[in-house]
Amino acid sequence: MKDMHDTTPLVLTVAERLDDRGDIMRLTLTADGPLPEVTAGAHIDLLVDTPEGPLWRQYSLAGDPADRSAWRLGILRDPASRGGSIALHQLVKAGEKVHVEGPRNHFALDHSAQKTVLFGGGIGVTPMLAMAWELHAKGADFTLHYCTRSADRMAFADLIETAPFKDRIVVHHDDSAPLDLQAALPAPDAGTHIYVCGPAGYMDWVIQTAENAGHRQKNVHREYFSADVDASGETFEVVAAQSGITVTVGPDETIAKALAREGVKIEVKCEEGICGTCVTDVLEGEIDHRDQFLTEEEREEGEMICACCSRACSDRLVLDI
Ligand code: FES
Repeated sequence: MKDMHDTTPLVLTVAERLDDRGDIMRLTLTADGPLPEVTAGAHIDLLVDTPEGPLWRQYSLAGDPADRSAWRLGILRDPASRGGSIALHQLVKAGEKVHVEGPRNHFALDHSAQKTVLFGGGIGVTPMLAMAWELHAKGADFTLHYCTRSADRMAFADLIETAPFKDRIVVHHDDSAPLDLQAALPAPDAGTHIYVCGPAGYMDWVIQTAENAGHRQKNVHREYFSADVDASGETFEVVAAQSGITVTVGPDETIAKALAREGVKIEVKCEEGICGTCVTDVLEGEIDHRDQFLTEEEREEGEMICACCSRACSDRLVLDI
């Protein structure tokens, strides 16, 4: 299994709330002592109370990973999301406690790289800032391209102006000085790694352009914030091998929900195939992957499934649960 995360909940204090440009709320979270160790690219799960009930939402850590005194988040108020970010913007106040799980990192840097180029679109700059801190600390060769819609929607400007790696950051605004991606991409090379995070259209553009330019897929690292996943399809059967239970997954049902009906619990968080919480080992059957979490290689191996959204191409799947 890929997801070996720490599920011990932490109760942290919101030491500071700062409402930045671009509908981005910046939070500084602290604990009574040092926070757990993190590496750049890590995210935490934050428990959010919404009118529809509690939700776990994933937020990347944006601060210096070496700083264990505080975790720094940037949270975009996104009316298109399922309510987590709006509830947080409405409810969170400095001094309050929040419940957190993690950290987990599915987006870690490859420190064997000779050159690293980071692309952050909008709120997607958050993990890139942490990566910049880590690369700077190691004396690595890197550039961070930060793309925003316009200067007046650019968050984190104060951090960027004072960062010790500010000369390695190139800021682009869509309405005045947009990113020239062809020019920004380095020459393809086995030792060159590219990282991208941001809105889906931005990510697809960067990934496709990089791969078309000859960058190897495994050198183009990506992290999605949200996904418009279609989890519906044909009916199929799922066998929970350890529990000895067989269920039918209906056309509009997910594997996790179908199993939950019969008392077999698979933990889910994002329910969009992006966080990896629900990854379950597959013993038999052909998977119809709908997630953004597993890599191409893992999909080809066919040994893991995101049970919150993926389905079966075969009539039956046998899971190791
Ligand atoms: S719950 Fe997040 S990937 Fe399934």
